Amino acid sequence: MATVLSIQNLTKHFGKIKAVNGLNLEVQTGQVFGMLGPNGSGKTTTLGMLMGVTNPTSGSFYWFGEEPTPQLRRKIGAVLEHPIFYPYLSGQRNLELNAMIKQCPQENIPHVLELVELTERKDDKYKTYSLGMKQRLAIASALLNDPTVLILDEPTNGLDPMGIAEIREIIRKIAASGKTIILASHLLDEVQKVCTHFAILKRGNMVHTGPIGDVGAGAETVEVNAEVENLNEVLLGFSGTASVNRENGVYQVTMRDGFHGKDLNRFLFDKNIVATHLVTRKKSLEKQFLEILAESH
Ligand SMILES: Nc1ncnc2c1ncn2[C@@H]1O[C@H](COP(=O)(O)OP(=O)(O)O)[C@@H](O)[C@H]1O
Ligand SMILES: [Mg+2]
Repeated sequence: MATVLSIQNLTKHFGKIKAVNGLNLEVQTGQVFGMLGPNGSGKTTTLGMLMGVTNPTSGSFYWFGEEPTPQLRRKIGAVLEHPIFYPYLSGQRNLELNAMIKQCPQENIPHVLELVELTERKDDKYKTYSLGMKQRLAIASALLNDPTVLILDEPTNGLDPMGIAEIREIIRKIAASGKTIILASHLLDEVQKVCTHFAILKRGNMVHTGPIGDVGAGAETVEVNAEVENLNEVLLGFSGTASVNRENGVYQVTMRDGFHGKDLNRFLFDKNIVATHLVTRKKSLEKQFLEILAESH
């Protein structure tokens, strides 16, 4: 598999703020790669460096194994922050202007309009578009020169559930057409739904990277004790129990996916058993991610 992007020790400091701190990661051909992190974790700054609009403080990155050049960047389409379109011009006319600026053939316009499902509305003025349609037009514009890689920064921000579903569907369609996608998002749910691989950022540091299947992995372990004779049997009778071990005078319960300490506590309580000790020893990855994402700055 070919490496589309490799990043080594990429760092960006704004004065004292370490926006991105020694980032290392790789994106392979055909991946839908999610950069997941709470607001302020350094996603937009990273994408800005990758697109050549922000200068790194230190570190390096290679697109397709080569030093980034403007020439090379033509193979990358990006939707960063707020794209600028003329409100009184139609979607079609706006794309024509963008195609001229990007020096790519006007013939691509019908195809990209079709891809983002705006063909029927192409002759309406941009200012009459919904937020979701505006975002779709931005994606269409990024696809005009048939890039190998598409970069999206928080593609569903501010959209209603319907708009969100449409954008996600379009992302899947673009991925299925063979393009590599890099997507920044603060939503675990979004990354889980559209990405194949992901990295999680926390205050400019990468704290995890791997295939998206990892999210559900890593069972939770709960340490429990209660003053009943047959606790071992009781614990095995809980539907969320995968296994029970007795260690140092307490019971270690490995939970099945989706079950947590509080579920076990409720189960015991319903059986009139009061736990004298109940501690979650190891959290599931998903829980760890949700905690990181809930952090505010
Ligand atoms: N131009 C800038 N000047 C100063 N600080 C900045 C600038 N851009 C971003 N930052 C800071 O860098 C950190 C990361 O921001 P950002 O990359 O926008 O995070 P994210 O996209 O994950 O929300 C934040 O603390 C932000 O305030
Ligand atoms: Mg951002």
